[in-house]
This record gives sequence, structure tokens and C-alpha cells, in this order.
Amino acid sequence: MNTLDGHVVIVTGAGSGIGKETALLTAREGASVVVAEVDAKKGTAAANEILASGGQSVFIETDVADEDAVAAMVTETLNTFGCIDALVNNAGIDLEGPTTSFSTENWKQVIDINLGGAFLCSRACLPALRRQGGAIVNIASVHANFGFAGAAAYDASKGGMVSLTRSLAMENAPDQVRVNAICPGYIDTPLWDHFLAQESDPEKIDRITRDSHPLRRRGIPLDIAQAVRFLISNESTWITGTTLVVDGGMGAQFFQRSFD
Ligand SMILES: NC(=O)c1ccc[n+]([C@@H]2O[C@H](COP(=O)([O-])OP(=O)(O)OC[C@H]3O[C@@H](n4cnc5c(N)ncnc54)[C@H](O)[C@@H]3O)[C@@H](O)[C@H]2O)c1
Repeated sequence: MNTLDGHVVIVTGAGSGIGKETALLTAREGASVVVAEVDAKKGTAAANEILASGGQSVFIETDVADEDAVAAMVTETLNTFGCIDALVNNAGIDLEGPTTSFSTENWKQVIDINLGGAFLCSRACLPALRRQGGAIVNIASVHANFGFAGAAAYDASKGGMVSLTRSLAMENAPDQVRVNAICPGYIDTPLWDHFLAQESDPEKIDRITRDSHPLRRRGIPLDIAQAVRFLISNESTWITGTTLVVDGGMGAQFFQRSFD
């Protein structure tokens, strides 16, 4: 018996990184997985990988910031699998720069995809989730809890996701729909590729991002996927409205010192 046998799980942004690992893990645990992804090539590849290993999956091309596309994705999910047990709001982008030169267009893009996408997908899935109870997991970030210079839009979008989590949890608890957030530390995924490409000293970035975690490594997508699996499974039926920080201890430290 697997932890997610019979579950239907939608993972947004499941073509890469944390979302892809979550799709693969939840499929291995018995779920039928909807890969809701804006990039058709990556989305198709993720769904095919699940099918090739004997799991159940369908790719549905979806821009989470597009209301009509989200509605169509939910309709297709219900036509294909009949119900929705869990939604993982994972799709996200990170555009950064000093606020005084940060364009309105970039601000809107970050907020519309990261926060707006979580709202649109949750709103569209809730009627189905309420039918038998279920779970939503919002992939926020340690950026929800700390200020990072040059990351106003990203920080605000992730802080908004944590607030959205609490509101949705309160609104949907009577229908046994649990809503939780995860705040990951630095995870090795392609999200960082464009930052690293601009960096003159990649080794320094490697060291800083590793050493800012007391456990002395960056996370891997599986670290987050396992937390998602827990929060959508029947192992967490009394957990709602909370934030699980999965950050190698980053948030627990005030400053680093060594007694070595
Ligand atoms: N990597 C990290 O260090 C880290 C840390 C904290 C939080 N996160 C969050 O985790 C989530 C996943 O990030 P990742 O690191 O796996 O990045 P990633 O770039 O590897 O994956 C993000 C996926 O989302 C998809 N996507 C982007 N815009 C979309 C849209 N409008 N509609 C649907 N899909 C869209 C991309 O095509 C991509 O497949 C993001 O919300 C990110 O903010 C990442």
C-alpha cells in the first residue's frame, strides 16, 4: 500500500526542479498526476517519464497566470481522472533587481505567476476538492520570512503565498480541505541558472548558498517533494494553515559563529 494510492494530484510547474520531483514522487506513491506546466516540451517529458515507469499521468499545457487556461486545466483533469484530491501550487519565477530600476512589467509578472497563479488554481480546484476533502500545498520560500535586497517582488509574492495559505485554510477547514505552505531554502534547480550565468565568481555563489544552511549543503528537489508528499497524504490530516520550513536550518540561525 502506497501513501497516495487512488489520489489525483495536480502539480503546477511540474516540468522542472521541485515540481518535477514532486510529480515523480507522488506518482511512485500511487497518485495519478496532472503535470500542469507552461513549457510543453518539459511538461510532456515529465508526464512521459511517469508513464514509462508504470505510473498514471497527463500533461496539460497551463499558464497558471491565465484564468481561462487554469479553468480548462481543471475541466480536463476532472474529465480524465474524475476528481481532485490535491493541488500543489509550485509554478514560479524569480526576477530580481533594485526596486528603483525594477520595471512594472517584471513586478506584475512575478506577482501574477507566483501569487496570482496560486490564487487562480486554488479557486478553480476548490469546488472539486470540497466534494471529498483534500489538500493544497503552496510552495513559498524562505523569502517569505526574511528581507533580501533586490528581491522585493519575489519576497512579496512569497509572503503573499503564506498569507493566502492561512486564509484558504480557515475558509476551507469546514469542508476538510487542508491548506499548508512550504518554505524551502536554496534548492539546486534550474531556477538559479540565469543568476549563475551572470555571476563572475560562481564558486563564491556556490559557497555562500551552501554555507548559509547550517546543515552545510543546498537542498535537492527531493527534500521538498517529500515534505509535499507528507502534507497531501493521510499522515497529516490534522495539519492545516501552517508553514513547514525546509531549509537546512537557515531560518533558525541569528548569525553564524563557530566554536571549532
Ligand atoms: N530553487 C529554489 O532554491 C527555491 C527556493 C524556494 C522556493 N522555490 C520555489 O519553488 C518553486 C519551483 O521552483 P524550482 O526551483 O523548481 O524552479 P524551476 O525553474 O526548476 O521550475 C519552475 C517551473 O515552473 C514553470 N512555470 C513558470 N511559469 C509558469 C507559469 N506561468 N505557468 C505554469 N508553469 C510555469 C517553469 O516552466 C518550470 O518548469 C517556485 O515557486 C520557486 O519560487 C525555489
